[in-house]
Amino acid sequence: MSLNAPVVTVDGPGGAGKGTVSLRTATVLGWHYLDSGALYRALGLLATRNEIALNDEPALVKLAKNLELEFRNDQVLLDGEFVDRLIRSEQAGDRASRIAPLAGVRRALLDWQRACAKPPGLVADGRDMGSVVFPAAICKIYLTASAEARAKRRFNQLRLKGFDVNIRQLFEEITERDQRDANRPVSPLRPAEDAFLLDTTELTIEQAVEEVLKLVQSALDLSE
Ligand code: C5P
Repeated sequence: MSLNAPVVTVDGPGGAGKGTVSLRTATVLGWHYLDSGALYRALGLLATRNEIALNDEPALVKLAKNLELEFRNDQVLLDGEFVDRLIRSEQAGDRASRIAPLAGVRRALLDWQRACAKPPGLVADGRDMGSVVFPAAICKIYLTASAEARAKRRFNQLRLKGFDVNIRQLFEEITERDQRDANRPVSPLRPAEDAFLLDTTELTIEQAVEEVLKLVQSALDLSE
Protein backbone atom coordinates (compact mmCIF):
# COMPACT_ATOMS: atom_id res chain seq x y z
CA MET A 1 0.00 0.00 0.00
CA SER A 2 1.60 3.29 -1.02
CA LEU A 3 0.78 6.50 0.79
CA ASN A 4 0.13 9.96 -0.62
CA ALA A 5 2.13 11.61 2.15
CA PRO A 6 4.53 10.68 4.97
CA VAL A 7 2.73 9.26 8.00
CA VAL A 8 3.87 9.08 11.61
CA THR A 9 1.90 6.69 13.83
CA VAL A 10 1.52 7.03 17.58
CA ASP A 11 -0.14 4.04 19.23
CA GLY A 12 -0.52 2.96 22.83
CA PRO A 13 -2.94 2.53 25.71
CA GLY A 14 -5.27 5.25 27.00
CA GLY A 15 -3.71 8.03 29.07
CA ALA A 16 -0.16 7.49 27.77
CA GLY A 17 -0.28 10.98 26.28
CA LYS A 18 -0.89 9.96 22.65
CA GLY A 19 -3.49 12.61 21.91
CA THR A 20 -1.62 15.63 23.25
CA VAL A 21 1.77 14.45 22.01
CA SER A 22 0.44 13.64 18.52
CA LEU A 23 -1.46 16.90 18.16
CA ARG A 24 1.55 18.97 19.25
CA THR A 25 3.87 17.00 16.99
CA ALA A 26 1.50 17.56 14.05
CA THR A 27 1.32 21.28 14.87
CA VAL A 28 5.11 21.66 15.01
CA LEU A 29 5.49 19.81 11.70
CA GLY A 30 2.54 21.64 10.10
CA TRP A 31 0.97 18.23 9.30
CA HIS A 32 -2.56 16.85 9.58
CA TYR A 33 -3.65 14.99 12.69
CA LEU A 34 -5.92 11.95 12.96
CA ASP A 35 -7.48 11.05 16.31
CA SER A 36 -8.73 7.57 15.33
CA GLY A 37 -10.22 6.91 18.77
CA ALA A 38 -12.78 9.63 17.99
CA LEU A 39 -14.16 7.45 15.17
CA TYR A 40 -14.89 4.58 17.55
CA ARG A 41 -16.22 6.95 20.20
CA ALA A 42 -18.51 8.74 17.69
CA LEU A 43 -19.74 5.42 16.33
CA GLY A 44 -20.56 4.30 19.87
CA LEU A 45 -22.56 7.48 20.40
CA LEU A 46 -24.40 7.02 17.12
CA ALA A 47 -25.20 3.40 18.00
CA THR A 48 -26.64 4.42 21.38
CA ARG A 49 -28.72 7.15 19.79
CA ASN A 50 -30.08 4.66 17.25
CA GLU A 51 -30.66 2.03 19.93
CA ILE A 52 -28.27 -0.37 18.22
CA ALA A 53 -26.69 -2.97 20.48
CA LEU A 54 -22.90 -2.70 20.76
CA ASN A 55 -22.51 -6.26 19.45
CA ASP A 56 -24.86 -5.94 16.47
CA GLU A 57 -22.10 -6.10 13.86
CA PRO A 58 -24.17 -5.79 10.63
CA ALA A 59 -26.00 -2.71 11.92
CA LEU A 60 -22.78 -1.15 13.25
CA VAL A 61 -20.97 -1.79 9.95
CA LYS A 62 -23.77 0.05 8.15
CA LEU A 63 -23.42 2.99 10.53
CA ALA A 64 -19.63 2.95 10.16
CA LYS A 65 -19.84 3.04 6.36
CA ASN A 66 -22.02 6.13 6.51
CA LEU A 67 -20.23 7.89 9.34
CA GLU A 68 -20.33 11.65 8.75
CA LEU A 69 -17.46 12.79 10.89
CA GLU A 70 -15.43 15.98 10.62
CA PHE A 71 -12.52 17.32 12.64
CA ARG A 72 -12.50 21.10 12.97
CA ASN A 73 -9.47 22.37 14.91
CA ASP A 74 -9.65 20.19 18.02
CA GLN A 75 -13.43 19.74 17.84
CA VAL A 76 -15.30 16.74 16.47
CA LEU A 77 -18.50 17.10 14.45
CA LEU A 78 -20.87 14.18 13.93
CA ASP A 79 -23.51 14.84 11.27
CA GLY A 80 -22.65 18.52 11.68
CA GLU A 81 -23.16 18.52 15.45
CA PHE A 82 -20.35 19.33 17.90
CA VAL A 83 -20.11 16.14 19.97
CA ASP A 84 -16.84 16.58 21.82
CA ARG A 85 -18.40 16.61 25.25
CA LEU A 86 -20.50 13.57 24.46
CA ILE A 87 -17.61 11.43 23.22
CA ARG A 88 -14.86 12.37 25.67
CA SER A 89 -16.28 10.77 28.82
CA GLU A 90 -14.84 7.51 30.15
CA GLN A 91 -18.24 5.95 29.47
CA ALA A 92 -17.86 6.85 25.78
CA GLY A 93 -14.37 5.32 25.81
CA ASP A 94 -15.77 2.15 27.28
CA ARG A 95 -18.52 2.03 24.63
CA ALA A 96 -15.88 2.55 21.91
CA SER A 97 -13.78 -0.35 23.16
CA ARG A 98 -16.84 -2.63 23.08
CA ILE A 99 -17.45 -2.05 19.37
CA ALA A 100 -13.75 -1.86 18.44
CA PRO A 101 -13.21 -5.68 18.47
CA LEU A 102 -15.70 -6.14 15.59
CA ALA A 103 -13.67 -6.95 12.46
CA GLY A 104 -16.35 -5.65 10.08
CA VAL A 105 -16.50 -2.31 11.86
CA ARG A 106 -12.73 -1.91 11.76
CA ARG A 107 -12.68 -2.76 8.06
CA ALA A 108 -15.45 -0.26 7.35
CA LEU A 109 -13.39 2.53 8.96
CA LEU A 110 -10.14 1.75 7.11
CA ASP A 111 -10.66 3.84 3.97
CA TRP A 112 -11.83 6.85 5.97
CA GLN A 113 -8.66 6.72 8.07
CA ARG A 114 -6.32 6.12 5.12
CA ALA A 115 -7.81 9.06 3.25
CA CYS A 116 -6.40 11.29 6.00
CA ALA A 117 -2.86 10.70 4.72
CA LYS A 118 -2.60 13.94 2.73
CA PRO A 119 0.37 16.22 2.01
CA PRO A 120 2.38 17.55 3.66
CA GLY A 121 1.98 14.65 6.13
CA LEU A 122 -0.11 13.01 8.84
CA VAL A 123 0.34 12.15 12.50
CA ALA A 124 -2.15 9.40 13.36
CA ASP A 125 -2.94 8.32 16.89
CA GLY A 126 -4.72 5.14 18.01
CA ARG A 127 -4.18 1.48 18.77
CA ASP A 128 -3.45 -0.07 15.35
CA MET A 129 -2.18 2.87 13.31
CA GLY A 130 1.29 1.40 12.79
CA SER A 131 0.30 -2.27 12.77
CA VAL A 132 -2.77 -2.24 10.49
CA VAL A 133 -3.92 1.10 9.13
CA PHE A 134 -0.58 2.59 8.02
CA PRO A 135 1.93 -0.28 7.84
CA ALA A 136 4.09 1.85 5.50
CA ALA A 137 4.40 4.75 7.97
CA ILE A 138 7.86 6.34 7.97
CA CYS A 139 8.02 6.41 11.75
CA LYS A 140 6.04 4.29 14.23
CA ILE A 141 5.95 5.13 17.90
CA TYR A 142 4.36 3.22 20.76
CA LEU A 143 3.76 5.38 23.82
CA THR A 144 3.32 3.71 27.18
CA ALA A 145 3.24 4.77 30.83
CA SER A 146 2.46 3.00 34.09
CA ALA A 147 -1.26 2.40 34.73
CA GLU A 148 -1.08 4.76 37.75
CA ALA A 149 0.45 7.58 35.71
CA ARG A 150 -2.12 7.07 32.97
CA ALA A 151 -5.05 7.12 35.39
CA LYS A 152 -3.70 10.31 36.97
CA ARG A 153 -3.34 12.01 33.58
CA ARG A 154 -6.83 10.96 32.47
CA PHE A 155 -8.15 12.21 35.81
CA ASN A 156 -6.59 15.64 35.30
CA GLN A 157 -7.67 15.78 31.66
CA LEU A 158 -11.29 14.88 32.40
CA ARG A 159 -11.44 17.23 35.41
CA LEU A 160 -10.17 20.05 33.21
CA LYS A 161 -13.01 19.33 30.78
CA GLY A 162 -15.50 19.59 33.63
CA PHE A 163 -16.25 15.86 34.12
CA ASP A 164 -16.90 14.58 37.63
CA VAL A 165 -14.43 11.70 38.03
CA ASN A 166 -13.06 9.43 40.71
CA ILE A 167 -9.41 8.41 40.35
CA ARG A 168 -9.83 4.89 41.82
CA GLN A 169 -12.74 4.15 39.51
CA LEU A 170 -10.84 5.65 36.58
CA PHE A 171 -7.86 3.41 37.28
CA GLU A 172 -10.12 0.36 37.21
CA GLU A 173 -11.88 1.48 34.02
CA ILE A 174 -8.59 2.19 32.27
CA THR A 175 -7.06 -1.18 33.17
CA GLU A 176 -10.25 -2.99 32.16
CA ARG A 177 -10.28 -1.17 28.80
CA ASP A 178 -6.56 -1.96 28.27
CA GLN A 179 -7.27 -5.65 28.87
CA ARG A 180 -10.12 -5.63 26.38
CA ASP A 181 -8.05 -3.74 23.76
CA ALA A 182 -4.98 -5.97 24.23
CA ASN A 183 -6.82 -9.29 24.23
CA ARG A 184 -9.13 -8.91 21.26
CA PRO A 185 -8.24 -11.11 18.29
CA VAL A 186 -8.59 -8.35 15.69
CA SER A 187 -6.06 -5.47 15.72
CA PRO A 188 -5.12 -5.91 19.38
CA LEU A 189 -3.32 -3.13 21.22
CA ARG A 190 0.30 -4.11 20.59
CA PRO A 191 3.38 -2.28 19.30
CA ALA A 192 4.07 -2.78 15.59
CA GLU A 193 7.25 -4.84 15.14
CA ASP A 194 9.14 -1.83 13.85
CA ALA A 195 7.80 0.66 16.42
CA PHE A 196 9.94 2.72 18.80
CA LEU A 197 8.82 2.26 22.38
CA LEU A 198 8.64 5.43 24.45
CA ASP A 199 7.75 5.23 28.14
CA THR A 200 6.31 8.58 29.22
CA THR A 201 5.81 7.75 32.93
CA GLU A 202 8.63 10.08 33.99
CA LEU A 203 8.35 12.54 31.11
CA THR A 204 6.50 15.83 30.84
CA ILE A 205 4.43 16.39 27.70
CA GLU A 206 7.14 18.75 26.39
CA GLN A 207 9.83 16.11 26.88
CA ALA A 208 7.69 13.45 25.20
CA VAL A 209 7.04 15.74 22.22
CA GLU A 210 10.77 16.48 21.98
CA GLU A 211 11.58 12.73 21.91
CA VAL A 212 8.93 12.07 19.28
CA LEU A 213 10.18 14.96 17.11
CA LYS A 214 13.73 13.57 17.28
CA LEU A 215 12.48 10.16 16.08
CA VAL A 216 10.45 11.75 13.30
CA GLN A 217 13.37 13.93 12.21
CA SER A 218 15.72 10.96 11.90
CA ALA A 219 13.07 9.03 9.96
CA LEU A 220 12.63 12.01 7.61
CA ASP A 221 16.42 12.32 7.16
CA LEU A 222 16.61 8.62 6.30
CA SER A 223 13.73 8.80 3.83
CA GLU A 224 15.33 11.63 1.82
O1 C5P B 1 -7.90 6.55 22.07
P1 C5P B 1 -9.26 6.54 22.69
O2 C5P B 1 -9.27 6.41 24.18
O3 C5P B 1 -10.10 7.68 22.22
O4 C5P B 1 -9.96 5.21 22.10
C1 C5P B 1 -11.18 4.73 22.60
C2 C5P B 1 -11.28 3.24 22.29
O5 C5P B 1 -11.42 3.07 20.87
C3 C5P B 1 -10.07 2.41 22.68
O6 C5P B 1 -10.13 1.93 24.01
C4 C5P B 1 -10.10 1.28 21.66
O7 C5P B 1 -10.94 0.22 22.08
C5 C5P B 1 -10.74 1.90 20.44
N1 C5P B 1 -9.75 2.23 19.41
C6 C5P B 1 -9.31 1.21 18.59
N2 C5P B 1 -8.44 1.50 17.59
C7 C5P B 1 -7.99 2.74 17.39
C8 C5P B 1 -8.41 3.80 18.24
C9 C5P B 1 -9.28 3.50 19.26
O8 C5P B 1 -9.68 0.07 18.76
N3 C5P B 1 -7.17 2.98 16.37
